Order: sequence, then C-alpha cells, then structure tokens
Amino acid sequence: MENNAPVTIIGLGLMGQALAAAFLRAGHPTTVWNRTAAKADRLVADGARLAPSVDDALAAGPLAVICLTDYQAVHDLLDGSGMAGRTLVNLTSGSSAQAREAARWAEQRGARYLDGAIMAIPTAIGTTDAVILHSGPRADFDAHRSTLEALGTATHLGADHGLASLYDVAGLAMMWSILSAWLQGAAMLRAAGVDAATYTPFAQRLAVGVAGWLPGYATQVDRGSFPAEVATLETDARAMAHLVEECLALGVNAELPELLKAMADRAIAAGHGGEQYPVLIQEFAKPR
Ligand SMILES: NC(=O)c1ccc[n+]([C@@H]2O[C@H](COP(=O)([O-])OP(=O)(O)OC[C@H]3O[C@@H](n4cnc5c(N)ncnc54)[C@H](OP(=O)(O)O)[C@@H]3O)[C@@H](O)[C@H]2O)c1
Repeated sequence: MENNAPVTIIGLGLMGQALAAAFLRAGHPTTVWNRTAAKADRLVADGARLAPSVDDALAAGPLAVICLTDYQAVHDLLDGSGMAGRTLVNLTSGSSAQAREAARWAEQRGARYLDGAIMAIPTAIGTTDAVILHSGPRADFDAHRSTLEALGTATHLGADHGLASLYDVAGLAMMWSILSAWLQGAAMLRAAGVDAATYTPFAQRLAVGVAGWLPGYATQVDRGSFPAEVATLETDARAMAHLVEECLALGVNAELPELLKAMADRAIAAGHGGEQYPVLIQEFAKPR
C-alpha cells in the first residue's frame, strides 16, 4: 500500500543522510535539518526540503527521526523546541538509561517518543538487511510502522524504552566475541602455517553449529536448571586448560582462553562442575 506520510530527519551525518535518502526513495515528502546545512545539498537535489530551523523541521509532519552523535547533542539541540504533539524516533546510539531519560524528557514536553538502534551501516539503509530496533509504546510504533519500514526491517522490542539500546550492546557483545574467538583460532593456526582463509570455512561451520545450541541453552538459563545433557562444566574446563597450554606453547596470546577458564573455575569452585556450560550465566549475571 502506498504511504505518502511526511517525515522529518534531524541530523544529516553519514547515517542521517542515508535515512533521509531512503525515505525519499520510498516516496515520502522528506524535510531535513542539519547543523551544517551544506550536508543537505544532495538530498535537496533529490527532492528533500531543507528546513530553516529545527522548529520548522518538527512542524513539517507528525514523525521526526533524529540521528545525532550522542544524547547530549539531542538534548542540546531539541530542548526548548516545538516537539509537542510530534512522535520522535531517536536512532542516536546511547545507553538504556539515556534512552529512558530521553523518553521522560520528551513526554514532559508533550511529544511521543520511541527509542531506536540501527544495526546496520549507511549503505544498507533502505534494504531489509538493515535491522532497526525500536522500543517504547507499541501503539506509537504501530502508528508509524509502515513509514519506518522504508528504512529497513523495523522491529519493536517492547514498551521499555531502554530495550533497543540493550539489544544493541548485547549484539555487540555477540559480534565481538565471535570475531575474537575466530581471531584466536586464526592466530593459533597461523603459528602452524595455516592461513586464515584456509581455517575460515571450519570456523564458519562451527559458529553456525554453536548457534543452533542457543535455544536449548536458553531454556536452561530461563529455568535456572543446568543438567549436563552433553558435557559437564568440568569436562569443558579440562578442554579450556588444553587451549591455554596450546596458546602458551605456540607463543600466541592466551588472555581470552585464560578468561574463559577463570570463569569456569569460579563456577566449579562454587559447586557447579557437574552442570552444563550455561550455568556460567551465574558468573555473567553479577559484577566481578
Ligand atoms: N554510521 C554508522 O555506520 C552507524 C551505524 C549504526 C548507528 N550509528 C549511529 O548513528 C548516529 C549518527 O552517526 P553518524 O555516522 O551519522 O555520525 P556523523 O556522521 O558523525 O554525524 C553526526 C551528526 O550529529 C550532528 N551533531 C553532533 N553534535 C551536534 C550538536 N551539538 N547539535 C546539532 N547537531 C549535532 C552532526 O551535525 P554536523 O553535520 O553539523 O556536524 C551530524 O549531523 C550515532 O549515534 C551512531 O552511533 C551510526
């Protein structure tokens, strides 16, 4: 169904320009504003309207997407602006606490507020590969869902405004852990003359295989019950010791394997050696 809803984009950095371009491609009348106005030139040539002020930009339609460097910039720019009656979708990266605080701040000023996180690079915006997370009142998301879908795969996570930021950083933890584990293996195999390209198909198969374990392990975490159906943590810890020894013998960095082993050893010392790997949630769920 055609959607001609007007949209406003505030912030035309690398990401904001991509967001505005995607709205234009989808046929939305698009108003833009940026501190450095020249960054709007190409968008204006493609049909966007450059607002002379933030207030003018906010007045252009019911929905304003904000994409600035950080939350401080959002507050500095929009405090005192005419946001009442508008729905703000803030796609600026920040913490869950900042998102919840921004929601209170916007609602006190009469605006509806959705927080968001962009799990994509600018060139993916406007394709289904661009996953964009939203959190806040479901009704506000549903009211603008078909417009937000012009930017990518629009997902609503829940009413808690902090959820988009939390999923964002959970995704980063996942991404960096997988990449670091792959680099660990690449460093070890390189010491034996195997290049990364040769090792990588094995690593990919393993990553996909391990990903398949997650739903079953999630059941254990959610139930708080960790029967050893496949292996005990003690068995895993012995394999971790081999990994550490091998790294040290090869002369490669052993910090990551040592961290994994230290966490497993703590759980074993606390009496969980006969349980399965997800029991480590008890180590991850508390501060050191
Ligand atoms: N780029 C990515 O791949 C990517 C991916 C996911 C999420 N994000 C997130 O998207 C947000 C924007 O990223 P970006 O790559 O577009 O950054 P960027 O290219 O550095 O753009 C930053 C934008 O914020 C504006 N800005 C900063 N401080 C301001 C202030 N005090 N008042 C008014 N405007 C201000 C800048 O205006 P000027 O043009 O006038 O400097 C510019 O429009 C960030 O939170 C980032 O983490 C980016």
